[in-house]
Amino acid sequence: MKQNNNGDSAANIQNSLKQYTVTFLPFDISIDVPAGTSVLDAIKKAQLPIKATCGGKGTCGECLIRIISGSYRPRPGTKLSQQVISRGYSLACNTQINDHLTIELPQFQELTIQGTHNSVFFENRKHQLSGIYKLNPLVKSIDVQLPVPNLEENYSDLTRIKRALRKMSGIETVRCSYPVLQTLASTLRKNRWQVSIVLSKFGDSWLIIDIRSPKAQDRIYGIACDIGTTTVALQVIDLSNGKICYSVSSYNQQLKCGEDIISRINYARTPDRLTELQHLVVLTVNTLIRSTTEKLEISPQDIYLASIAGNTTMMHLLLHLDPRYIREEPYTPTFNQIDLISARDIGLNIHPDARVHLAPAVGSYLGGDITAGLLCTPVPGDDHQISAFIDIGTNGELVIGNREWLLGCACSAGPAFEGQGIQCGMPAAEGAIEQVSFEKSGSIRYKVIGNTKPKGLCGSGLIDLLAELFIHDYIDRYGKFNECKVNHKLVETDSGIGFLIEEAENCYWGKNLTIAEKDIANLIRTKAAIYSAISLMLKYIGINSSQINAFYIAGGFGKHLNIENAIRIGLFPDMPRENFHYLGNSSLVGACLMLMADENRKLVNDIAEKMTYIELNSEPGYMNEYTGALFLPHTEMGLFPTVKSIIKR
Ligand code: FES
Repeated sequence: MKQNNNGDSAANIQNSLKQYTVTFLPFDISIDVPAGTSVLDAIKKAQLPIKATCGGKGTCGECLIRIISGSYRPRPGTKLSQQVISRGYSLACNTQINDHLTIELPQFQELTIQGTHNSVFFENRKHQLSGIYKLNPLVKSIDVQLPVPNLEENYSDLTRIKRALRKMSGIETVRCSYPVLQTLASTLRKNRWQVSIVLSKFGDSWLIIDIRSPKAQDRIYGIACDIGTTTVALQVIDLSNGKICYSVSSYNQQLKCGEDIISRINYARTPDRLTELQHLVVLTVNTLIRSTTEKLEISPQDIYLASIAGNTTMMHLLLHLDPRYIREEPYTPTFNQIDLISARDIGLNIHPDARVHLAPAVGSYLGGDITAGLLCTPVPGDDHQISAFIDIGTNGELVIGNREWLLGCACSAGPAFEGQGIQCGMPAAEGAIEQVSFEKSGSIRYKVIGNTKPKGLCGSGLIDLLAELFIHDYIDRYGKFNECKVNHKLVETDSGIGFLIEEAENCYWGKNLTIAEKDIANLIRTKAAIYSAISLMLKYIGINSSQINAFYIAGGFGKHLNIENAIRIGLFPDMPRENFHYLGNSSLVGACLMLMADENRKLVNDIAEKMTYIELNSEPGYMNEYTGALFLPHTEMGLFPTVKSIIKR
């Protein structure tokens, strides 16, 4: 990669007639454009997602790209620091194409999953799961050696297979898919009557979905996927032994069409845009499938089963269903539970006859991410105690109950704890500050994921920062800076006065890492929405927080969610700390359990059927609860006795 700043007018005229090929990663999409085209225009021509709020004026800094190969010419006046430019970063709107280029769109690159779940994770938590941890998937591969036909035994190829399966595995009812039948004769003869048969279970019968060379027997994989409004996470599981082979995640490429569920539903109003949203979510999943299969050196065709969890809107968009009625009274989704569908129905790039199971939803705002997540907790199986489960993502969803009953609700918390809408925020990926503490000397200690220079703060880092600012009296209970205390740390930012977390020279992007009052207000609104949902649900049930036996927390905060700090800012009730259990991405873990054992697929359907959805927004006390929680930690300090005593000290 080299920058070319020398101009020559004759050469420029000649150059302008040229066409250059630009390849965009991670999509691996190439297009040809005339010389001099801006990268932003090329991205739009390729119909790829890019944020560009300022419309290409070079002021918002959102259209960040990284040039991997080829020479390029950034126009002067770019917002980026020299340090960042020297690493190949540039602004798409400020960069002209005058060479064949390979360009990465960092916003859609893979993210490192924090707290990745592996087989050991499941082994250690066996006792805590309500789902079972064993291998009994809906697909299996069986090696058979068939008798060679002769004039005495000249029954059909398919009968030959059925008899062999009955003899070897006791399987009585077998059907064959049409694509397999079309190539059956040649496949058997090519492999000299020794083949590996992939079967998919439908009720009491089995369907042959593939016949391969016997060497392929071990290659039978499944994918578990969590489709979130902001991020999508995927795991590849070896279905021959239950081992989790690889985990990966990225931003949901639908982000360019709106940050939250409501804006996506609004965006999907026209058929073209609905198709675009379906295309983008499938593209996101397929990009993750491709990157994982390449790393594992397996073929996507060897993936025969998929299990997907996500909120109700994401599942509608995945299936290309109009989501508008989800947000229109009386809030009726097109479906909550559906039978298994096939990969080819939705365009997943795995074996076309691979079956896809979607975790069932309870209603418009309580989706399959929650029912799947509950599989990772003991809540739906507990005979005696009442426990709570909360998943904090772009929305907040809460379920309280036990084996007898489950009540669920949702609140529109906003994606602040996923790093969206906060200037210094980012998901829990490499470069994110995940832990923050203030020293007595006033200096700030922090821990960065991946031990790199910090790029921003993920949810757990933002909670720590807010708690430390509050406990050290740098902000008041409204979230406003106590200027007399913190003056030495306040600097000008694009959003007004901000608290300096780290100086530009020590930051990855080469600019000060700060948090402004506007961002603090956003975080307080988010925590208030979550706390008021918890508080109102407890009142609705007629219990208080001391009657909750255990509180399970899910979400993409980062590996180290500090419960103490979450209570200090008033996000969670002031309960004994040992009652809280942080699960990480429980939707993905639940999807993984559903993939591994058919019993979990049935259990998650039971959970959905047992749960009752409570519409909090129409509860009379909701606004009062919310307004009371718009303070640190709350207007009623009596609700947070341990925080009160710390502040007193
Ligand atoms: Fe805003 Fe490029 S589009 S900086």
